Amino acid sequence: MRKLYIIGIGPGNPEQVTIQAIKAINQVDVFFVTSKGEAKNDLTQFRKEICERYIDEPSYRTVEIVDSGRDPTIDSYASRVEAWHQQRALIYEELIKNELQEDECGAFLIWGDPSLYDSTLRVIDQVISRGLIHFDYEVIPGITSIQALAARHKITLNGIGESICITTGRQLSPGLISNTENVIVMLDGKCSFKEVLDKEVEIYWGAYVGSDKEVLLSGRLTETRESIEMARSSAREKNGWVMDTYLLRNPSARRP
Ligand SMILES: C[S@@+](CC[C@H](N)C(=O)[O-])C[C@H]1O[C@@H](n2cnc3c(N)ncnc32)[C@H](O)[C@@H]1O
Repeated sequence: MRKLYIIGIGPGNPEQVTIQAIKAINQVDVFFVTSKGEAKNDLTQFRKEICERYIDEPSYRTVEIVDSGRDPTIDSYASRVEAWHQQRALIYEELIKNELQEDECGAFLIWGDPSLYDSTLRVIDQVISRGLIHFDYEVIPGITSIQALAARHKITLNGIGESICITTGRQLSPGLISNTENVIVMLDGKCSFKEVLDKEVEIYWGAYVGSDKEVLLSGRLTETRESIEMARSSAREKNGWVMDTYLLRNPSARRP
């Protein structure tokens, strides 16, 4: 029976690939590669580097997945994403059927961990529920950008007994911060922390965390927000893309 691995490869440091991931990568006949956007070259290069560094007997093939992206003519965000997933499910189904022999093993190398802001598992579920092809699959966890950020700042994500909220820049609001001790923000292209005015709030920010392009800044949000904005925009200008994550810590958050 065909086998698929969905493998978390960490957030950009080849030394943060787990032994379990390396063992799985060594079983793979076909890597399905789906990167897009401005970061495409660097992310593809990182996946290549991992294969070159860790595969003992390279005889694998690579199949690139052409991603048409979300349809901008669909009004609601949720419907846009749903349509995109459906389209992806059809593409994955075709690829698994045509590119993977019955006794072969395929893999998706997922940035960070597959459980965090990544659609691959949802799309694979859709392929399975269509019922047209059959395969076994396994998920291998990876280090997330959140863990890498905490390690580089040498911090815990929460104080004793506190909660942590993980959200996107789009969902960040002053109300959320005043009620949550620790908020981790990802996928924020607009520096949404600018909207948070509470003087008590601290920020631990990192871009390209774990990689050789890494930039880290931390401090009181009111005192550091401008430097972070500037660092982010100059890094983006220099590299052509940027991926950043931050923790906002509010010591005076109201507990529910
Ligand atoms: C589509 S999500 C993927 C998250 C990934 N699955 C993970 O486990 O970290 C992409 C977002 O993750 C964050 N991210 C990923 N890699 C990062 C890195 N090396 N440094 C900082 N943030 C990163 C950024 O917030 C970025 O916008």
